[in-house]
Amino acid sequence: MRISVIGCGYLGAVHASAMAELGHDVVGIDVDARKIEQLAAARPPFFEPGLPEILSTATESGRLRFSTDIADAADAEVHFIAVGTPQTPGGHSADLTYVNAAFEALLPHLADGALVVGKSTVPVGTAARLAARLAEAAPQASLAWNPEFLREGFAVKDTLEPDRLVYGVASDDAAAILDQVYRAAIEAGTPKVVTDYATAELVKVSANAFLATKISFINAMSEIADASGADVTALADAIGHDARIGRRFLNAGVGFGGGCLPKDIRAFTARAEELGVGESVAFLKEVDQINLRQRQRVIDHAVQTLGGSAYRQRVAVLGVTFKPDSDDVRDSPALDVAVQLKGLGADVIATDPEGIENARARHPQLDYTSSTDEALHGADLVVLVTEWREYRALDPVATAARVANPRIIDGRNVLDPAAWRAAGWEYRGLGRP
Ligand code: UDX
Repeated sequence: MRISVIGCGYLGAVHASAMAELGHDVVGIDVDARKIEQLAAARPPFFEPGLPEILSTATESGRLRFSTDIADAADAEVHFIAVGTPQTPGGHSADLTYVNAAFEALLPHLADGALVVGKSTVPVGTAARLAARLAEAAPQASLAWNPEFLREGFAVKDTLEPDRLVYGVASDDAAAILDQVYRAAIEAGTPKVVTDYATAELVKVSANAFLATKISFINAMSEIADASGADVTALADAIGHDARIGRRFLNAGVGFGGGCLPKDIRAFTARAEELGVGESVAFLKEVDQINLRQRQRVIDHAVQTLGGSAYRQRVAVLGVTFKPDSDDVRDSPALDVAVQLKGLGADVIATDPEGIENARARHPQLDYTSSTDEALHGADLVVLVTEWREYRALDPVATAARVANPRIIDGRNVLDPAAWRAAGWEYRGLGRP
């Protein structure tokens, strides 16, 4: 099929490349000329495993082009809107400026029978509003809402082999077009839910709200564990064996961040309030609070371990991205901890395998090194806040020889406390005795 993807950020660049990988003829559109130039040269503007490979195959085959001119989308039968919906500055709701702008820009270029497909995460009610606008300005086209559940670090696999497809549609025709787009996944037996616009929009935010709640639940348990001497990791293992609960997303630590979970739960709360049902998701404010408190707990543990003051103490912060296998530092708990420790007077040296460039752009006041060894050298305290494989694999004996004082805060509960203590470390996790 001929497909356009409007918005070439994390979501759009991966989606465009994956659609071309599936054999479609794709044009990716973005207003950012630099991004388009990089993508056209098969250089992803961000780190995502597997993306460089499918991007170069697709651009070389001629099935994937990029442009800053929306008129180049005019040929497409299906137009995916994949622009960002960030948190409104100074507020909690989603900023729909980019969705509205992309949609309006597309209107004059829609061919007969074209399908506009929303992928962006939007407040419930957005699709109905856009459908009404479409009926008035371009009645030859129709609208579907088709949320995306990709995880950074697994984005290519999640797009090529999604665990479910959700279509919010107003007609069988729209669903049939999406079936053609996703033929490979459908033939592979991927479950599909065909529903209305509102449900499709809500599926996305409620899935993220559920995941955020699961993480904050276990983090709340880690606070109780700290106060009572229990072990939250063993607790998570034990409750996770109950298939109704499940062990995934029960890792206590410095909490969730990134470009989705934090802003999505806030936007969800704001939208529910607009709808007059704010009380139904008021608990998400608590989920947010628990999550932010985890960052403070890591900082408190760090200061306590340093004997009450971080001033002029050398602190090695391992990780700045919001999770491993990503260079994304948006709302990153790891970077937040580094910045706050610096604010307390510590000599912070932060390191990360992929995230330094993005972190430096936001927080140039921090010292960075790409070398873990250099970060550890002479440290009075090590704070592990992103569980990159290489940090999980650190050898406690060899690491002890690098630092000035063998003290570590394991902000992701990924190290073996017994092994680290046996190597002479003062070890502290979150909710671990
Ligand atoms: C999330 C959703 O998982 C995805 O379906 C949606 O499309 C976009 O938002 P992503 O932001 O890539 O994906 O990250 P995810 O893997 O969900 O992790 C989010 C945050 O939660 C990370 O900061 C991670 O470190 C944290 N987390 C995750 C925990 O603190 N504990 C856990 O047990 C799991």
